[in-house]
Amino acid sequence: MPPHRRVDATGIEPLEELRESVLICGRASEGLDLLPDRSVRTVVTSPPYWSLRDYEADGQIGRDDALGDYIKSVVVTFDKVRRVLGDDGTVWLNVGDSYTSGNRRYRAPDRKNRARAMRVRPPTPEGLKPKDLIGVPWRLALALQDAGWWLRSEVIWHKPNAHPESVTDRPTKAHETVFLLSKSQDYHYDTDAVRGPNGRRLRTVWDINTEPRRRGDSGVDDHPAVMPMTLARQCITITSEPGDAVLDPYAGSGTTLLAARELGRRWAGIELNPAFVDLIEHRLAR
Ligand SMILES: C[S@@+](CC[C@H](N)C(=O)[O-])C[C@H]1O[C@@H](n2cnc3c(N)ncnc32)[C@H](O)[C@@H]1O
Repeated sequence: MPPHRRVDATGIEPLEELRESVLICGRASEGLDLLPDRSVRTVVTSPPYWSLRDYEADGQIGRDDALGDYIKSVVVTFDKVRRVLGDDGTVWLNVGDSYTSGNRRYRAPDRKNRARAMRVRPPTPEGLKPKDLIGVPWRLALALQDAGWWLRSEVIWHKPNAHPESVTDRPTKAHETVFLLSKSQDYHYDTDAVRGPNGRRLRTVWDINTEPRRRGDSGVDDHPAVMPMTLARQCITITSEPGDAVLDPYAGSGTTLLAARELGRRWAGIELNPAFVDLIEHRLAR
């Protein structure tokens, strides 16, 4: 694979072609404007989860916005994703859920798990009660469906190695949701590309362990929410072919981009925090 090009979202003219892989530093909504129409075959992405983490960058979604604004901003960004996606293109969208805060506004820092770094809890969304599970993934999925996306599957990413939780009035959470969305009714989906146990067609529950965070070997900070390579690989293999371009508009530490490269795909990644863009380049160089 040829080396990638790194650019700022606001620094260059839109690309006429996506011949080489591109790493864009900036807001997803701005970075997407640089990419050519129908230049991408599939998207594997995990936007910031609502009210869960602070990615320490101006313009981040999910931290200061109300739930409705968060959903609106993903939907508006996904309108731009639709333009850059081929007509038979798809999106794998991984989103996590959360609980309402009730009246507690402060969250104690969790030193063991920096992924819970957000100190301030947002107010409880209207219509919900203290301790309610918000249902963020489905609220977002239905909004995307209303905006014209085909909602094709809900995959349960089961984490056999999920952390224990100190809760005594509900089961411990051990899964996240991954939706498969398509731009059109017919789309590229290779059912033989990945098989489940005993060679059976893939089911909607995928057992994939979270991967341990690698700290301290990069010279730049590590990332609090890294997706397992296995998950990214599986999605890319099913809905794209070698030589296609794969997009992640919320690239984080670049898992989707690394998996795409490994599988012989070109890639486009957009990430807001320049420190994470450095981290992506470091992972790519390893
Ligand atoms: C859940 S993480 C993605 C993790 C990624 N899948 C991985 O494996 O490393 C979401 C990322 O979106 C970035 N982000 C937040 N707001 C953004 C925006 N408006 N545009 C682009 N990236 C944004 C955050 O900095 C964070 O790195």
